[in-house]
Amino acid sequence: MKSFLVSILGALLLFVSTASVAQKKTTLRKAFKKSFLIGTAINSRQINGRDSLAKSLIANEFSSISPENDLKWSVIHPQPKEYKFETADNYVALGKANKQFIVGHTLVWHSQVPNWVFVDSNNALVAKDVLYQRMKEHIETVAGRYKGKIGGWDVVNEALNDDGTMRNSRYYQIAGDEFIVKAFEYAHAVDPKAELYYNDYNMYKPEKVDGAVRIVRMLKEKGQRIDAVGMQGHWHLDSPTIEEIEKSILTLSKEGVKVVITELDISVLPNPQRNNSSNITDVAQNSQNINPYTNGLPDSVQVALAKRYEAIFGLFNKHKDKIGRVTFWGVQDGNSWKNNFPARGRTDYPLIFDRSHQPKKAYYAIIETVNK
Ligand code: G3I
Repeated sequence: MKSFLVSILGALLLFVSTASVAQKKTTLRKAFKKSFLIGTAINSRQINGRDSLAKSLIANEFSSISPENDLKWSVIHPQPKEYKFETADNYVALGKANKQFIVGHTLVWHSQVPNWVFVDSNNALVAKDVLYQRMKEHIETVAGRYKGKIGGWDVVNEALNDDGTMRNSRYYQIAGDEFIVKAFEYAHAVDPKAELYYNDYNMYKPEKVDGAVRIVRMLKEKGQRIDAVGMQGHWHLDSPTIEEIEKSILTLSKEGVKVVITELDISVLPNPQRNNSSNITDVAQNSQNINPYTNGLPDSVQVALAKRYEAIFGLFNKHKDKIGRVTFWGVQDGNSWKNNFPARGRTDYPLIFDRSHQPKKAYYAIIETVNK
């Protein structure tokens, strides 16, 4: 009886959410058609068709999709001779069915990567030629499988510290910054038509964006293809400023690459961190004073979020000639990683669809920026 009632409720919610989307005159995908791709990160349930309420929203509202976790090394290639492609295949098939630009995230990253990639049988770091062989096989197998289907890859993710120096990852410890050149070389060799990106967070910081400029110049000097730099948009209601974001967009564009806003979410919660880190290991303890909206978001904060998104998309529209894509890091507030980072178990509202899959004030504010 209970499952019957649940399925009735689900169908009713689906009808309501679909109907409300249908009532709207336009969609994000239509509104930004002449500006830039507009995308969303999707999770395993959504990829594998187990999130019925999100399905039509993902297909109708977005012209691009990104895989939040399912193409990361530890998920798709957990052991040296073991690949798990089922969900990744479903991801690419979904993007094809929806006629969307399909993003690959991510080939080389210091996080969510198995330990065996870096060590020998004595658990000592391997020499760089061994690391390169492992990277080459991974990239050839994964990017090669989706050749001509995945339109662009986050080839290297988060190789920089916030001060623009190289992160002391085991990639860097073994090979210096040459691992970046090799990753782009292998990706381009296996799929010559795919766009290739360097992706990082806190790229509104001038010293960090200078580090990204150094990477772009290094790749170009080595004759490697790089199409864009990904600026992750894990931002807050009050930071970074529009001016800081604009300065970075202009600095990167001067290098002859596009800018893609790859992971946009605007947290409305107090930020317990000093450094705005998106590094998953930089966690904080939860407490009531940093989790004030457990019973819903006050309308005043909804309005503040809408105004913040309006200002940010006003900037994106101003520089739409420099921006290739804007991707939200999740479909609706309940999907967001921000509910568990930097503190676990919080209730955040960083996206533009609410937990009932309904568009928020921010959604309409973003649509309005296109007509201005
Ligand atoms: O899938 C397992 C599940 O089987 C298990 O029961 C559960 C136990 O906690 O963990 C699940 O894996 C989690 C995974 O998300 C899928 O939900 C991992 O613990 C969790 O660490 C992982 O978090 C992801 C995080 O990257 C990992 O670094 C977030 O969802 C994802 O939004 C976040 O995305 C990154 C980008 O890839 C790169 N830029 C920064 C951004 C935020 O860290």
